[in-house]
Amino acid sequence: MSNILITGSGGQLGQEFRALAAFYPAFRFTFADRQVLDVTDEPAVFGYFLHHRFDYCINCAAYTAVDQAESEPDAARLGNVDAPRWLAEGCALQGIPFIHYSTDYVYHNAQNWPLQEGDPATPRSVYAITKLEGEQAARASNPLTMVIRTSWVYSSFGRNFVKTMLRLGREREKLEVVYDQVGAPTYARGLAQATLDILSKVDKGEAGRELLSGIYNYSDEGVCSWYDFALAIFDLAGIGCKVHPIETKDYPLPAHRPSYSVLNKAKIRDVWGIGIKHWRERLRECLAVMGAF
Ligand SMILES: NC(=O)c1ccc[n+]([C@@H]2O[C@H](COP(=O)([O-])OP(=O)(O)OC[C@H]3O[C@@H](n4cnc5c(N)ncnc54)[C@H](OP(=O)(O)O)[C@@H]3O)[C@@H](O)[C@H]2O)c1
Repeated sequence: MSNILITGSGGQLGQEFRALAAFYPAFRFTFADRQVLDVTDEPAVFGYFLHHRFDYCINCAAYTAVDQAESEPDAARLGNVDAPRWLAEGCALQGIPFIHYSTDYVYHNAQNWPLQEGDPATPRSVYAITKLEGEQAARASNPLTMVIRTSWVYSSFGRNFVKTMLRLGREREKLEVVYDQVGAPTYARGLAQATLDILSKVDKGEAGRELLSGIYNYSDEGVCSWYDFALAIFDLAGIGCKVHPIETKDYPLPAHRPSYSVLNKAKIRDVWGIGIKHWRERLRECLAVMGAF
């Protein structure tokens, strides 16, 4: 049986791995939240890899406060650059693959067709810059580093757009939501599933370990704006709140967001043979888990 370490296991994605663990009996999981392993504590990270033995490490820990990062660049860099570097080094010491997540915000270029892994990355916020540097630091520290760039992550766990919309939609008669940022949502459970399906293929010898390397995009299929996403949430959950489309300039936030951020998922589909569901189907699954309809 192979051992998987999940760091940052208290977050949205980390908790989805916990929810799925029973469906992957070939793996033994160790869930390390911030209390078990603070990934920004360098001696603690190396001590952890010295005293425990794993076959794979999946890092769900990150500094994810996108707007707060603008005023806390050092904290963002510690969580998003130093921490993945140390974790990747810890994995390299054990000779094991390191799976790490990054963001569509690293692209942020002028392109308005789906973004491929090799397209220019010109991040424009502290969060996105540190996530890109974290990818680079981890890959430089361990050649067996697989970076999965994802977008608009939500779950029944933690804080996210879906939960915020459900709460506000039940409290208010109308809401304003931006329609000039286009991308695709990602149900964290699907992302966790895809990651474990990939590791299962390697573990069974159906794919080489060396493929756990490089950058892969992953989001749910389809395209929408935040406005369309809000409409779908209310539609599926049977909430009557009216939604009005507004422009990003009318809802100013500290961190700059890309206007077009749709990920091309051909690489992860082709290399790993995984199917990706449409975002609306995944949204329905998540709302069902939440008992929202
Ligand atoms: N959420 C999105 O929309 C989105 C979009 C694109 C990419 N991503 C990426 O996807 C990955 C997973 O994100 P998520 O949505 O699951 O984020 P999340 O819900 O914010 O979870 C992040 C987790 O990391 C933990 N963490 C932070 N600092 C830590 C530390 N020093 N030691 C240990 N744990 C620490 C947090 O713990 P505390 O709660 O105690 O702080 C939290 O449990 C991240 O790499 C993120 O950058 C997310």
